[in-house]
Parts: sequence; C-alpha cells; structure tokens
Amino acid sequence: MFHPFKIESYLTEHEHNVSHNYSESGVHPLELGEFCNLAGIDINDLLTTKLDYPNVRGNVSLREKIALLYPGSGVSNILITIGASEANYLVSKTMLSPGDEVVTLQPAYLQLPGNAINNGIKIKTVELVEEKNWALDLEQLKKAVNAKTKIISVINPNNPTGHILDETEMQAIIDSASAVGAWIVADEVYAGTERGDRQVTPSFWGKYDRVIAINSMSKAYGMPGLRIGWVVAPEEIQPELQLRHEYTTISATMLGNILTNTALDPSVRPKLTARARKLINFGFDTLMDILSEHKDTYSVVPPEASAMCIVRFDLPVSSLDFVDRLVQEKSTLVVPGNCFGLDHHFRCSSALPEAYLREGISKINDLVSEIKA
Ligand SMILES: Cc1ncc(COP(=O)(O)O)c(C=O)c1O
Repeated sequence: MFHPFKIESYLTEHEHNVSHNYSESGVHPLELGEFCNLAGIDINDLLTTKLDYPNVRGNVSLREKIALLYPGSGVSNILITIGASEANYLVSKTMLSPGDEVVTLQPAYLQLPGNAINNGIKIKTVELVEEKNWALDLEQLKKAVNAKTKIISVINPNNPTGHILDETEMQAIIDSASAVGAWIVADEVYAGTERGDRQVTPSFWGKYDRVIAINSMSKAYGMPGLRIGWVVAPEEIQPELQLRHEYTTISATMLGNILTNTALDPSVRPKLTARARKLINFGFDTLMDILSEHKDTYSVVPPEASAMCIVRFDLPVSSLDFVDRLVQEKSTLVVPGNCFGLDHHFRCSSALPEAYLREGISKINDLVSEIKA
C-alpha cells in the first residue's frame, strides 16, 4: 500500500484556503523584484533568457558556485534537482535495494524515509528527546544501526525541532555509519537558519567518505518557488542519480538555474543569509511574545536553527483536532504534531513579517482561550 507523505497531504488540503498560514518551514519568500534589488541586477537583463532546457545536470557555472560551498567537491560531484524533494527521491531510488534498512532520526520531515518505505525498505528510528532539548539518543543509535543499514538519514538542522547536531552527535553518527559501511544522507536545507549568533551548521560533506549532502534554495534563501535543489555526492554515484533524474524531471528550469547562480554569488549570498537571520531572530522573539499570553499552556524548546518551532500545548485535545478547529474556526494553519508523531504539539513558522505574525498567532491564542473556557 502506498505510504502518503502525511505532512504534505495535510498542507496541500489547507495551505491556500486560510487567511493565515504558519505551516511553511522556510523564511518568508522573496518577491522577484525584491531579489533583483537585493542582488543589484536589472530585471530587464532576464528578458533575454532563453526558456530552454538547461544542462540536465545543472548549468556548469551554477555547479561551480555550489562546489565552492563544499570543500573538496567539484562540478562532477553536483547534480541540480527540482528542490531537495527530487534530491531525496533520487537518492532513495538509487541507493536502496531490497533487504536494506534506513535509520532515521525522529521527529523529522520524513521525505527520504517515506520514499524508502514505498520501495519496501525497513525503517528504524532513533529519537531526538524533547526533555533533553531534542538531543539525539546515542544509545538508540547504536542499537538501530546494523549490517543491513544502508543509509542513516539526517536532517541537520532538524525539521521540525530546530536541533543542530553537536560535534559529539555528528561523530556518533559517523562512527555508527563507518562501522557498517553505511551512507550518511544529510538533508541540510536549514543550514544558514541558525538563531542568534550561532555559526552556520557545518555540512557532513568531507567528514566521512560515504556522505551525500542535499540542499536547496527553499528554506534559508527564501526562494522555494525557484524549485532548485542539489545533491552533492561522490563522483561514482552521480551517473546513477542522473539516470533516474532523466526519467523523473530531465532537468530543473533555466530561470531557476540562472537566478540561483546569481543568488549564490559570493557578493549576493551573504545578503540573503543576513535577511534570513533577521527574519528568524525577530520572528521567533515575536512569536514567543505572543504565545506568552498562555504561558501555562504552551511550552517551547527554543530551536537552535530554522524558521519555525515545535510548540507543545497542555490541553485535552489532540493535535489534529486542535489544528482542524484552527483551520475551520480561525482560518489559520499550523502543522499538527501528529504529522511528526508528536501529539499535543504543533509546528509553527515565525520568520515572517511582524504584522502578519501578530494577527494570526493571536487567533491561535483565541482558540486556546475558548478551549480553556
Ligand atoms: C528537511 C526538508 N527537506 C526537504 C524539503 C523539501 O524542500 P524543497 O522545497 O527544496 O523541495 C523540506 C521542505 O519542507 C524539508 O523541510
């Protein structure tokens, strides 16, 4: 039986039918004009873009820019995909065979594991523990990994918790993988969304020879509509990924390649990162301020990174019922915790303009007041 992608199915149903949507996980998307201003380009320069297929692997100049972000990599290590979504799909299709197992951290955005389940692959989970600020359970990790483990699937920084694996946790994952020759597939779309003055989360790339790193323009860069992602993998894996990419999408888009090439230019990228940090820091503080109206009901482990957080609520109602009521009665959407196996929680985005944040989140507070009454 087909295993649906629960979170995406829920969002597809509701995200365009509410007045306030806090289900997104990236920073507030840029408008095209805003991007041109920020990047210092004239929009008229885009008018001569031929709306042709780009290079199937991604334009060379773009792959050169991406390679600079992954020391030791080159153009031949990189494949441009339709978002991290296609990247996760291709990696799962390419790397896994019957009898293999995938170990995944939980809670997580289960894109690669979900694809694996649909290929008949067994999944084992290792917990990030809320009571320990979402730290990784290292004992569970040791127990979960065995000779059948083909992939350890990691989202770092994590969606939904915002946890950044510390050095000990990263090393434990590398040690577990290397002990059995497993691959680490690191979905790093939230690198660059660190809160406060934390360093950018380091990539797994370069730390172990069996690493596949995935990233995209969707989260830290605020450009999900470009639908551009990439896979960084050892050269021998790339032709295998490409064969599947040729079936699924052939290539990403020419405009996506060109705009991403501009966005990742060393003269532009820091401006996008600075924009993200500002939205993330201010947005999270604003969210906490609004939620403080019901201090006794909500609790939040402050995320180390990401444009969202997981809110636990102490109410006699399930996460799905709570969010269904929020949608129907308040036209406001967050992600029900049950999409991540977390009842009595919801995921709420906050790297958004202040007025929008205040209007909608206060409607969540209103529902809480009504339930309490
Ligand atoms: C961890 C993670 N990986 C991948 C994706 C998909 O991103 P993209 O828009 O690049 O396909 C998401 C989107 O929410 C995500 O959270």
